[in-house]
Amino acid sequence: MTTTTPTADKRDQVVIFDTTLRDGEQSPGASMTLEEKLQVATLLDEMGVDIIEAGFPIASNGDFEAVTEIAKLVKRGVVCGLARAGNGDIDRAAEALKHAERRRIHTFIGTSPLHREFQLQLNQEQVYERVVSSVTRARNYTDDVEWSAMDATRTEADFLCRTVEAAIKCGATTINIPDTVGYTTPAEFADMIRMLIEKVPGADEVVFSTHCHNDLGLAVANSLSGVAGGARQIECSINGLGERAGNAALEEVVMAIKTRGDIYPYYTNIDTTMLMRASKLVSAVSAFPVQYNKAIVGKNAFAHESGIHQDGILKNAETYEIMRPEDVGVKSTSLVMGKHSGRHAFREKLIALGFELGDNALQDAFRRFKDLADRKKHVFDEDIEALVEDEMTQAGEAIRLVALTVIAGTGGPPKAIVTLDVEGQHVTKEATGDGPVDAMFKAVRAIAPHEATLQLYQVGAVTEDSDAQAEVSVRLGEGDKMVTGRGADTDTMIASAKAYVSAVNKLVTRRAKSKPAVELKAV
Ligand code: KIV
Ligand code: ZN
Repeated sequence: MTTTTPTADKRDQVVIFDTTLRDGEQSPGASMTLEEKLQVATLLDEMGVDIIEAGFPIASNGDFEAVTEIAKLVKRGVVCGLARAGNGDIDRAAEALKHAERRRIHTFIGTSPLHREFQLQLNQEQVYERVVSSVTRARNYTDDVEWSAMDATRTEADFLCRTVEAAIKCGATTINIPDTVGYTTPAEFADMIRMLIEKVPGADEVVFSTHCHNDLGLAVANSLSGVAGGARQIECSINGLGERAGNAALEEVVMAIKTRGDIYPYYTNIDTTMLMRASKLVSAVSAFPVQYNKAIVGKNAFAHESGIHQDGILKNAETYEIMRPEDVGVKSTSLVMGKHSGRHAFREKLIALGFELGDNALQDAFRRFKDLADRKKHVFDEDIEALVEDEMTQAGEAIRLVALTVIAGTGGPPKAIVTLDVEGQHVTKEATGDGPVDAMFKAVRAIAPHEATLQLYQVGAVTEDSDAQAEVSVRLGEGDKMVTGRGADTDTMIASAKAYVSAVNKLVTRRAKSKPAVELKAV
């Protein structure tokens, strides 16, 4: 592939700060369990993310625990915790991060007139004081402190300069300029960063950062423009997950920098061949589907339908492809094994797909693979991935699906008979419903009662053909908490039951763990 990337020594690094687990997880319906957050953090670390924003420790006991555990787990990257401009927040973030090999406290306050007046009820001087006190306090815990001017792009230039200067004087090492409401435009944002770097004393000693939301669909363009203006850190998230329309998509900024080295003479530490895996994992754990035509990681991002395009691709891929699919981890679907494949070949295949299972888990996965190969003509890599992920999801759950019978059709009300293993005891219930799925969910609820409402029921096919495995996501909401369950099987009803049961398991765990530490307001 021809790119005009300058040699590494002439290029500046753009630091990749991933906020999938904080801003991403904050978006309605995207909440993840601790295990899921650890899975995502491990992958981000392996992929080369420089800073992993692991959560907002004061927000809930669950967030505190997630940041604590991620801090212990991460090997390469810096682990970051978010804190408002109050002592309690900063102390809690420091506590959660204490086991991290490399830690960062990220503290923020709203600086715009709207935020000052309506959210904080503070005047400019009071906000200024909080910048001073919060950065100073954070610096007592670590010398890696990031300060953010929330709603910076709607803040008066003079006041923004004053607060940035104060944060630098008090020891902040990264200055983040969030476009909190996705309001700015590329040229305006580049000018803003340039202006700050030129005017603020000490600006040349810190790293400027972008944090762009996508309300106008400009988050990636604005982030890259910010870099052109002098920023050297981009805050982004996998699949662009984040509040409202989301954040700048990590995979898009990284591939824009890699592909257009002639325009963006920078580099990142990201192993781009892991982008597709990261996208799939985040989509699965958040139950946020990736749109088919999404740049880089969409199902159609490298698909060529028209005859003219196909002809060109066959002659020379560069006629219609500006990136190689393998550079972002897109593999052509490959037929793997059939029912005669042995345990050894299966284990090798799992390793190639990035799974390392212990003996017992391998045994269970192999049994399921054999069962699948009996039922399904062709077994693809995607089938194996779905099967193992399903196995990992169900492992260790207190409630498990044992048996299911569903009666549906034109003859009478749909009925489901469900047997669950509830902490070692088999319990069977039956129910009728408005459809087979409704009947099945009601039967599960009769065994494991809860008040949650169904927010999402989503079925996808892992591969093509009518014998494909179904992958089902279920999201349940209880109060302001949401949980997501997943299940996979060639039988859509079984996959649905597994997904529902998995979500119920999470509800139970969540109820036990996540009493909010405080009610969050701006401080
Ligand atoms: O969008 C925003 O301003 C934020 C800050 C906390 C950085 O997420
Ligand atoms: Zn944000």
